[in-house]
Amino acid sequence: MSVTALYTDLSGYYDLMCADIDYREQSNYVRRLHELFGNQGKNVLDLACGTGPHLRHFIDFGYTASGVDINQPMLDIAQLRCPEAQFTQQDMSDLNMDAQMDLISCFLYSIHYNQSIATLTDCIASVHRALKPGGLFCFNAVDKSTIDNRAGIKRQLTHDQSNFSFQSNWYYSGEGEQQQLQLSIERTTNGITEHWRDQHAMVALTFAHLQQLLEPYFEVHILAHDYERIAPWENAAGNAFFVAIKH
Ligand SMILES: C[S@@+](CC[C@H](N)C(=O)[O-])C[C@H]1O[C@@H](n2cnc3c(N)ncnc32)[C@H](O)[C@@H]1O
Repeated sequence: MSVTALYTDLSGYYDLMCADIDYREQSNYVRRLHELFGNQGKNVLDLACGTGPHLRHFIDFGYTASGVDINQPMLDIAQLRCPEAQFTQQDMSDLNMDAQMDLISCFLYSIHYNQSIATLTDCIASVHRALKPGGLFCFNAVDKSTIDNRAGIKRQLTHDQSNFSFQSNWYYSGEGEQQQLQLSIERTTNGITEHWRDQHAMVALTFAHLQQLLEPYFEVHILAHDYERIAPWENAAGNAFFVAIKH
């Protein structure tokens, strides 16, 4: 069963957990990709936009911004951060947009929240429909054949007189098309500790398979997962940045 307290009851702590992420750098990387590979338009849609940190930067770069996310509590925070943007609660595998976009992004491996190959395929078709000709679809992804279940990220901090601990790791059984993002969240206030364990169901696939799903709709480039430089992906790396240009 999928449990995603982080995006509902605990959404107010999401930005704390992500405080070390350089959102400006990530957004600027995609802005540069759009300049290089995309059309000259300025409408951006961020899929699984969460609390809207990337959209804040896109707006500041001069884009007209929209965001979709499946969890309304995340969108409520995004709307406060980006009053200029349009947000709608939607499943990214079944997008319903009023106008076509020049750029569609999806950050922090959120494309994997399409929970099966079938829904991921629907998402790709949906994104294709939502883009203008020459529009760009940019996202990062992880190859299931490289997942190390022992590797994880831990972050501890103090906020509002509480101590927080956030821990996350990928889990892949080694078979099939499902992986999980496992999260452990602890909050200690006045010596009392509360503990949440999230298990987020996600699709697992290889980059070769992902490329095969994209190619009927897009010209596909796979880049190194390095926000400081635009360079081709080296086959050994388990994560990469995908740039897909609408045919
Ligand atoms: C890891 S967060 C990423 C948020 C933001 N993009 C960032 O980089 O901080 C994943 C987001 O995906 C959203 N999400 C999960 N499944 C989704 C779906 N099927 N369609 C749209 N959003 C989804 C969650 O609500 C959550 O806000």
